[in-house]
Amino acid sequence: MVCGTTPTTVLIMKPGFSWPTAPALETTALILEPLRVEHAEEMAPVLDDPDLHTFTGGEPANLEQLRQIYGIQVLERSPDGSELWFNWILRRKDTLEAAGYVQATITLHKTATVAEVAWVLARKHQGRRFARQAASALVDWLWAMGADRIVAHVHPQHLASNAIAVAVGLHPSTTRLDGDVNWTSEETRGDRS
Ligand SMILES: CC(C)(COP(=O)(O)OP(=O)(O)OC[C@H]1O[C@@H](n2cnc3c(N)ncnc32)[C@H](O)[C@@H]1OP(=O)(O)O)[C@@H](O)C(=O)NCCC(=O)NCCS
Repeated sequence: MVCGTTPTTVLIMKPGFSWPTAPALETTALILEPLRVEHAEEMAPVLDDPDLHTFTGGEPANLEQLRQIYGIQVLERSPDGSELWFNWILRRKDTLEAAGYVQATITLHKTATVAEVAWVLARKHQGRRFARQAASALVDWLWAMGADRIVAHVHPQHLASNAIAVAVGLHPSTTRLDGDVNWTSEETRGDRS
């Protein structure tokens, strides 16, 4: 479910392609808060878990690194304007704890707007379908904003992530990127790439 859809600022990739800044979104159990740099203090301990990187690589960022990452992500666009970045922190409604995040990167492929999505939930909060809820809210919002195609890069052995990709309407393609399978929506409105 999307809430607060009134855009405050418009991000323009190029004439004719404009998106609002990330609004707050809501699911049954979660609030999706648009990322702020101040979230770093709360999120650093939540994400301080090497197991969260089993299928994606890398390692947990420390607080200072996370502040820097968030400082860039909140700009919502790459320096050259070729990508839009949308990031949300997931907050449980019952305990008000920050539990993870979802993100989307928007790019233009000729006339098609492609959104690459990702989801992360701290182990303490896993197994409650929170990630599925958050991913659904994210994908619903992307469709509502005019995305032409949704893509997720999912490790073939990551069963929970595969299940989320299915739940949000994606389908595994034959394309692989660094061992991940490209999951993509069948929607290709406007795609002439
Ligand atoms: C991927 C991740 C967010 C899933 O979190 P989660 O809390 O297990 O997810 P949910 O509880 O919302 O469950 C989502 C689906 O996965 C299924 N699932 C969960 N664990 C599973 C497992 N071990 N085997 C098979 N299915 C599993 C659930 O049943 C559910 O599917 P369903 O609703 O069709 O039944 C979490 O494992 C994570 O953050 N991993 C590290 C970060 C990462 O790799 N993210 C993926 C990058 S795209």
